[in-house]
Amino acid sequence: MKYIRYIYSLQEESFYQLLTEYTKGVEILDRKDGNVIFAVYEKLDHLEPLQVQEVRIKHPKSYLRTIRVKDFLIVPYGIKTLFINPGMAFGTGLHPSTQVCLLLIDEFFKRGWTAIDVGCGSGILSIALKKLGAKEVLAIDIDQVAIRECKKNAKTNGVSIKCIKARPQDVKETYDFLCANLEIDIFRKEMKHIKPLFNKRAVFSGIYGREELEELLEMLKDLRTVKIKKLKGWYGIVVEK
Ligand SMILES: C[S@@+](CC[C@H](N)C(=O)[O-])C[C@H]1O[C@@H](n2cnc3c(N)ncnc32)[C@H](O)[C@@H]1O
Repeated sequence: MKYIRYIYSLQEESFYQLLTEYTKGVEILDRKDGNVIFAVYEKLDHLEPLQVQEVRIKHPKSYLRTIRVKDFLIVPYGIKTLFINPGMAFGTGLHPSTQVCLLLIDEFFKRGWTAIDVGCGSGILSIALKKLGAKEVLAIDIDQVAIRECKKNAKTNGVSIKCIKARPQDVKETYDFLCANLEIDIFRKEMKHIKPLFNKRAVFSGIYGREELEELLEMLKDLRTVKIKKLKGWYGIVVEK
């Protein structure tokens, strides 16, 4: 942000008189021979500035950081927090395939859409979808432990997610958005059941290296590929219908 800074000099007595009336911030720069040199961020009536400076100030928000102090995590306002205890399920958020998926969900998911998370694990992606304003989220996994952890994590995060033990072919409804962080072997077997589950956009991840990427793109060639993102060798792909 750009500001104009006005530097003035006043005799001490006049300066303290000004302080009694002036309600905004005054920065005292120096005191010399009974005078006070000070700066304000607007022009003062009836006074000639010693200097007028253009200053660039970073927005206070840009100084905010997430800080950990022992068991306290101090999070700046506006950051979306995901509280995850994965238990024995996959999905701490440390794996690049989860991170690439989160980045693409953040970019391509639209508030108000319905969504399905295939292979929810800890529920990390489902919770993110809810925090981004999903109308309804169905989280499925073949692992009962994942379902239990996903339900617990949804509760901890104060979001409502339907978590069920199911395979893609068990789901009969269609959702606006789909995310699936699986593996190439699973995509080979399940893609024909996964594709009918969404009608707008989908994010696929869990793909490592060029060869797997090419194979997945071949499986998705009847859809429009809108983005391919790579993170530490792991690919995420966004497709549209
Ligand atoms: C790599 S983990 C992803 C966890 C979490 N979504 C994430 O992004 O961190 C894949 C999950 O898919 C589940 N899974 C494997 N095969 C599946 C299938 N055919 N249908 C549904 N879930 C499956 C696994 O049990 C596992 O929890």
